[in-house]
Amino acid sequence: MIDIKNLTKQANNKKILRGVDLQVKKGETVAILGPNGAGKSTLLKVLATLIKPTSGIVRINGLDLKKNHIEIKKILGYLPHSSLLYDHYSPLENLVFFGNVYGVRDVEQRAMKLVKDVGLSFFLNEPVKNFSRGMIQRIAIARAIVHDPEVLLLDEPHTGLDQGAISILNNVILSMKEKGSTTLMVTHDFKQAAEICDRIIIVKNGKIVDDFKIKNRNLELVSEKYEMQMEGVS
Ligand SMILES: Nc1ncnc2c1ncn2[C@@H]1O[C@H](COP(=O)(O)OP(=O)(O)OP(=O)(O)O)[C@@H](O)[C@H]1O
Ligand SMILES: [Mg+2]
Repeated sequence: MIDIKNLTKQANNKKILRGVDLQVKKGETVAILGPNGAGKSTLLKVLATLIKPTSGIVRINGLDLKKNHIEIKKILGYLPHSSLLYDHYSPLENLVFFGNVYGVRDVEQRAMKLVKDVGLSFFLNEPVKNFSRGMIQRIAIARAIVHDPEVLLLDEPHTGLDQGAISILNNVILSMKEKGSTTLMVTHDFKQAAEICDRIIIVKNGKIVDDFKIKNRNLELVSEKYEMQMEGVS
């Protein structure tokens, strides 16, 4: 579903991504771990077609990112660090707006269902600017999936969420996986990575330094492998 070959990104003479090779199969749920500044968000932004790579080939669902970014955008759901929501709009208005951007059918019904799914029915018509960080994150999650994307790109999606919202988010990811969606999730939360992902990638200094599958929510394996990389063992 995602095929990345020798991807590099340079900005202001700084090498942010230094030759990333990665293949992700349809239906896989992959966590991207790594220290601050490693290049994780940059990688996600390239895939989300928000920034252009310096060199390399990226294919999503067989489409070349350079040539077909409009088609690719339609099948992507991207949750960035910042929420991308309209402050003065209510949750419902935000979801209807973004749903319309993607040409979602029966958009009001879909928006209502999502607001309910993320547990914000009580705040249906209140402007998002009055919301807490966690409430905004819940709506941002709903926004990212309003068009039922085939590929989900999530940048630290668990940040700021309470236990209830964490379960909501994890259920969203797992139910999208059941439908065949592919997820790439940047996170610092090893526990959540082990909880919902079947594969872990570690990024350090703009490169993938480890890539392994996990089973049975093996949090210890994730911590062990991560520490090995941070100690400089390869
Ligand atoms: N537009 C830019 N111009 C110059 N440098 C940039 C730009 N965007 C990102 N960088 C640099 O690239 C590096 C990687 O940034 P990135 O946001 O991808 O890291 P990250 O792995 O997501 O880190 P964090 O865990 O802190 O979110 C950082 O050193 C950052 O300063
Ligand atoms: Mg980041």
